[in-house]
Amino acid sequence: MDRIRIVGGEKLNGSIPISGAKNAALPLMIASLLTPDRLTLKNVPNLADVNLLARILRNHGVDLAVDGKRPGPAQHIGETFHLSARDIVDTVAPYEMVSRMRASFWVLGPLLARCGQAKVSLPGGCAIGTRPVDLHLMGLKELGAEIEIEAGYVLAKAKGGGLRGGRVVFPKVSVGATHNVLLASALARGETVIENAAREPEIGDVAECLVKMGAKIEGIGTSTLHIQGADRLEGAVHSVLADRIETGTFAMAVAATGGDVTLEGARPELLKTALDTLAKTGVEILTTNSGIRIKRNGHGIEPVSVETQPFPGFPTDLQAQFMALMTMSKGTSVIRETIFENRFMHVQELARLGADIQLHGDTATVKGVKGLTGAPVMATDLRASVSLVIAALMADGETMINRVYHLDRGFEQLEQKLSRCGAQIERLTG
Ligand code: EPZ
Repeated sequence: MDRIRIVGGEKLNGSIPISGAKNAALPLMIASLLTPDRLTLKNVPNLADVNLLARILRNHGVDLAVDGKRPGPAQHIGETFHLSARDIVDTVAPYEMVSRMRASFWVLGPLLARCGQAKVSLPGGCAIGTRPVDLHLMGLKELGAEIEIEAGYVLAKAKGGGLRGGRVVFPKVSVGATHNVLLASALARGETVIENAAREPEIGDVAECLVKMGAKIEGIGTSTLHIQGADRLEGAVHSVLADRIETGTFAMAVAATGGDVTLEGARPELLKTALDTLAKTGVEILTTNSGIRIKRNGHGIEPVSVETQPFPGFPTDLQAQFMALMTMSKGTSVIRETIFENRFMHVQELARLGADIQLHGDTATVKGVKGLTGAPVMATDLRASVSLVIAALMADGETMINRVYHLDRGFEQLEQKLSRCGAQIERLTG
């Protein structure tokens, strides 16, 4: 198993290209199930999760061709995928695959809408919480699905042969349930209204792609979506939007180490709350023609308290990274996680580097320390792992990060991007 070795203490200087967003690329790839025509996606990040979803989609009958690239530094950044689901050959998504990546559960709505039936494994729990799918099922039932649970699988059938529009009022904001219902409604007869829809930019990106494919959608970017389903959706060409979580992660890394880095292609409006929070810690943030420039020179890190919220609030996917930054602030900050009940697995690992963090239920109190010291660590999920990278960049001496596959799920060329800016970071294979 690969490991990453970091020797901390270097400032970051230079520029980092921001990749396409994992959490947009995955549902966009799934949207290919809705049409027999070719869906071309540009700027797809080369990530383990993307590759796993590609395998899952191939199982359903999706042909995937990836454009070749010339060798060079950008070789692995932003690939072009051509996805064609001319015939859906299998409407079963097996446990072995769905349990490895929760987002693959989102094939349920599109398969049901296109084929009138689907059998998709329940994803099960994961390191950050129980993560039920009741809202997904509730939403699809409103579109006329009959659903049974049998032997760990969701068996879904569209009453009368096809889904029809309906009114879905989510009692709680869910990104995944919104994706699932949005994707299904694009092929449902008549109008669907989704209320209390998640407003994450990745949902807007998927909606924009569905519009290109022939769906009519109003309210994109708001919490009420009106979707007029089409009898048949067409192919389209769409470019995956910039990854706001990768952007925020590198911004926090620069805040942590000090230095001056431009995040090329980053879109500040996608993470305004996170950038405003970061600015309060004493970091200078400038919007440039090509992206965002992050600078911190000289002065220390001010403590700032945050609470995670659905978009446009502070994202749960940046909570661990922000906590890493706060471990060396000049005071005490309070971080509350309101989205997932168990997303504090990084706390014990940060403590191994010398962080002073007290956990009480959904709240972590982080007392800034004067210095962290490198140590071997391991992590249990993607964002927790990258928070350890940030802490390691600040720490004195060597940190060895184990279970690197978590990082490979969601960060494209992480070591290369950081080492080009002066970080001492390398991957040890095997
Ligand atoms: C998406 O997960 C993201 N995943 C997560 O990113 C992200 O943390 C999360 O949204 C919140 O922003 C992808 O986009 C692939 P939810 P999702 O449904 O859709 C509860 C990462 O690191 N809930 O918005 O699974 C749920 O338990 C990942 O890239 C129900 O109760 O999240 C949670 O408490 C991790 N019933 C809350 O809603 C349901 O049916 C929000 O979850 C569905 C969700």
